[in-house]
Amino acid sequence: MYWNFTDTLIPTEKIFGPEDGPIIAEIGFGNGEYLEHLARTRPECIVVGIEVSQWCVTKAARRSLAAGLRNIRLMRGDARSILHYAFEPDCISEAYMNFPCPWPKRRHAERRVASRNFASTLRGRLALGGTFTLATDVEWYALQTRDAFLSDGSFSPDPIELNPKRGYVTKYERKWRKMGLDTFVVRMTKINGGAGHDDEKTEEFDGEELKIMTDPDVNGLSLHDRLSAVLGKTIQKDGYVVIFKELFMSGDGAALLSAISVDEGFEQRYYIKTVRSGSETLVKLDAIGHPYRTPGVRASLRFLSEIPGVRL
Ligand SMILES: C[S@@+](CC[C@H](N)C(=O)[O-])C[C@H]1O[C@@H](n2cnc3c(N)ncnc32)[C@H](O)[C@@H]1O
Repeated sequence: MYWNFTDTLIPTEKIFGPEDGPIIAEIGFGNGEYLEHLARTRPECIVVGIEVSQWCVTKAARRSLAAGLRNIRLMRGDARSILHYAFEPDCISEAYMNFPCPWPKRRHAERRVASRNFASTLRGRLALGGTFTLATDVEWYALQTRDAFLSDGSFSPDPIELNPKRGYVTKYERKWRKMGLDTFVVRMTKINGGAGHDDEKTEEFDGEELKIMTDPDVNGLSLHDRLSAVLGKTIQKDGYVVIFKELFMSGDGAALLSAISVDEGFEQRYYIKTVRSGSETLVKLDAIGHPYRTPGVRASLRFLSEIPGVRL
């Protein structure tokens, strides 16, 4: 069978906003059955699933196409970052997270989805009156998440419900029930406006735009020489680190520079390329790795503007 995933798998260039209609987001959708339930019961909404596992994304894409559902969109990556970078402010009406991995060990705490800036990220992305609902089999996870949303100041959390009747029971909930475990459900409603954790910062440079280099040879240095100078260089600032790894040159003088960025633990590997345009060379982010335009990625382009012969 031929699967046409074009409308379902969403590249990172896409930014969801109010023009997409009412948006529901599910974080860590696993095999996609709850996404399917949401999409069936809420046909007026676009249901955006975010999942780190490529295998889960593929399974859910097949599931939604097999079910003929046209209102499911899937994005692969860490939900903590994708929520921030792929959605306009205040545009999600409901967000769900069912049975997240609890990462109980202290040294793994950073891996929890509901950690650090999560309440703040959702404050920036949920609409006023929008809700975030967490279902978990781990009581302390429910309590900690509720406390974090309460202390954020923009949410009104409901009391935690024990084994409430749910519209749909997911694979993990079925498994826990069989093992005689409880389910804890807590819903937080956004009651105040306010930007998310990074929205207050203004980016003086729009990293998505092309940059223009003057002549290929400047001060007797070729483009290759000038780009080679950044290899191994690290840019480190609050919240991100970037390193330039490798440089590839084609016979006609086009360059491909590979880089790795880590923004608050969110790692991306991507390429920056040069494209000839008349007498000038354009420097731009290559789409192949589908990088999110995180502060680190933007900083890597800004950094290149400082090499000789490059101007904005
Ligand atoms: C225990 S499974 C639960 C799956 C599904 N929600 C269910 O109830 O059957 C947790 C899921 O969260 C995903 N996940 C873990 N960390 C994530 C993150 N930072 N962003 C998005 N998904 C994540 C995992 O890949 C996994 O599919």
